[in-house]
Amino acid sequence: MKILGIESSCDDTSVALVERTDEKIEILAEKTASQIEIHKKYGGVVPEIAGRKHAEQITPVVEEIMKNFEKPDVIAVTSGPGLITGLIVGVETAKTLSYLWDVPIVGVNHIKGHIHSVKIQKDKSEKPISNFELPILSLVASGGHTELILSKKLGHYERVGGTRDDAAGECFDKVAKLLGFDYPGGPKISKFAEKGDPKAITFPRPMIHSKDFDMSFSGLKTAALYHLRDNPDTDKNDFCASFEQAIVDLLVHKTIKAAKKYNPKTIVLAGGVSANKKLRETLKKVIQKEIPSSEFKIPELKYSMDNAAMIAVTAYNHAKNKNFTPWNKLQADPNWKIYK
Ligand code: KG4
Ligand code: ZN
Repeated sequence: MKILGIESSCDDTSVALVERTDEKIEILAEKTASQIEIHKKYGGVVPEIAGRKHAEQITPVVEEIMKNFEKPDVIAVTSGPGLITGLIVGVETAKTLSYLWDVPIVGVNHIKGHIHSVKIQKDKSEKPISNFELPILSLVASGGHTELILSKKLGHYERVGGTRDDAAGECFDKVAKLLGFDYPGGPKISKFAEKGDPKAITFPRPMIHSKDFDMSFSGLKTAALYHLRDNPDTDKNDFCASFEQAIVDLLVHKTIKAAKKYNPKTIVLAGGVSANKKLRETLKKVIQKEIPSSEFKIPELKYSMDNAAMIAVTAYNHAKNKNFTPWNKLQADPNWKIYK
């Protein structure tokens, strides 16, 4: 089945053509037009500007992806959650193409897309996710979300914990801004952190001992702000390493705690923050030590960030079951939740 994926929920206009069967995923073409250079000036994504840029870029990107191909069998589009100004461009483009080509649409949830991104593996011997063993516990950490999601059955999602305030990526980005780093600051913090001592500064780990699987990052952000105010000459490498360690400790601790309760056979780490090397390595090590019966899955670095290939891949089961939305019924939903 050839699936055209469209993703425009934040600051990437991404389109991908994916050939998918039960056994295999092949990316036939993919392109992402990033808006980072534009939003950098403002220190974050400006929804109004994002919407305009998506509108300008989406047709040329679709045209480039489709130039060597006939029309797809299915169109998959992120219809939520995300910025309404971006979502609406992707959704309306998908509807127009569906009408013109007479091809059905699947509206895909962005968070679900991140979870399914782990299926896209270079190693073709990799088992397809339909064979990943249930239950699956997923930590999705991005600029907009930090959630622990349990899947007991395929297509079933239950939120068992997550942030009560800022998302982990948002915390990285806000603290990076305090350091004068450009948006998105997460990758820059982790670069400086490589040369620093993670024990140099003791940052708080809010809610780490709470009985539930919830997290909080806003207190950590405030502690980082006060530290910089009171120690203007702080060593940036040590600061970044200590701050990153606090976020990693929080995410790993709560994921392991949830895993000990729910005994998942598979643990997934996905979303933009899953590109963080320290987080990937620490979670992998702790799972191997404490829950060795669980299989740990992370996306390839390229598919950690927002991308249309993961949206196309996610739509496959819906399309197989002919679970389509007529083009004139599909709507962007900025607050769409996959779980109860
Ligand atoms: O999933 P994503 O591309 O977009 C959203 O859906 O939000 O995630 C982007 C987020 C940003 O906050 C960015 O700073 C963070 O992922 N991020 C990182 C790293 N790479 C990206 N955070 C920490 N370390 C990284 N290496
Ligand atoms: Zn995302």
